[in-house]
Amino acid sequence: MKTEPLTWAQAHTNIALVKYWGKANLELIIPQNSSLSLTLDHFYTQTGVQFDEYLSADQFWLDDQSIPVSSKVKRCLDVVRELAGINQFAKVVSYNHVPNSAGLASSASAFAALATAASRAAGLHLDGKQLSRIARRGSGSSTRSIFGGFVEWHGGNSDATSYAEPIQDPVTMDIKMITVILNRSQKSISSSNGMQRSVTTSPYYPIWRDQAANDLINIKQAIYSNEFTNVGEIAETNAMRMHSLTLSADPSFTYFNADSLTVMNVVHHLRQNGIECYFTMDAGPNVKILCQSKNEQRIQDELANHFKPQDIVVCNPGPGVKVIRDPR
Ligand code: PMV
Repeated sequence: MKTEPLTWAQAHTNIALVKYWGKANLELIIPQNSSLSLTLDHFYTQTGVQFDEYLSADQFWLDDQSIPVSSKVKRCLDVVRELAGINQFAKVVSYNHVPNSAGLASSASAFAALATAASRAAGLHLDGKQLSRIARRGSGSSTRSIFGGFVEWHGGNSDATSYAEPIQDPVTMDIKMITVILNRSQKSISSSNGMQRSVTTSPYYPIWRDQAANDLINIKQAIYSNEFTNVGEIAETNAMRMHSLTLSADPSFTYFNADSLTVMNVVHHLRQNGIECYFTMDAGPNVKILCQSKNEQRIQDELANHFKPQDIVVCNPGPGVKVIRDPR
């Protein structure tokens, strides 16, 4: 019996500057609104996949621990099996260089790496658009992690029309994202549950959809014309509009904690003192700060008054997914 080696891929996290918040189709993960993100260099996932006729079930190993195969992982593998016309189970081995499920988009890099490694292991040679559609079946945000730099996820209204596209890669704008890691533990309300509650109970939800569509048009214009200030202002406003949907849901909830508010206050204080920076936040308490190179050190110094140095991570724009050699 000859067993093929695992096929590996590496994908990086992305942070949305115009957020995806709300599903129109829960099964296919078609979003209510299109979104735009920046892929980051610092956080990534490496995943190896092997389809094996001798396996009697899918297996998943995360950071050398065997864990149950989630329905999302199974769904991605099933899509690949169907496309490739195979029915073998898979062994999946994954190493995550991202704090799990704390609003740092670990699922984004994870499913982009899985879609790429699995499809290659099944003998498929798919383009980025096709890979983004498979990644989407695992988590919405991972649709965008197929590509590097600034990336748009066209929301669409079907499997075929909901995919990611690179907007600018490599990134020519001077832009950095300082991540302040405030909590490495799992979030209490998953993004899926949070979205669903917002869509079904926030009276502001219909307004969000219109405003996110406008934000997307404006931020793309700002990227194309290299206007960092506009990118930062749109990203911060858009993030707060997303979080207002959690506060206005019934029952109300929030991903903010006291430290998140401290970081926001630091950003406001720096801006009042002429240091240009903007914040954004996802479905967890960690805050990310957008800035340019000239202000990076000053912002880090200010954050160091409140947080440990190892919890302050400066990220640059990162690359799209790639097939790699076995990293072990
Ligand atoms: O696709 P999920 O379940 O990782 O949800 C992502 C939701 C946000 O991170 C808050 C926004 C976004 O567009 O990434």
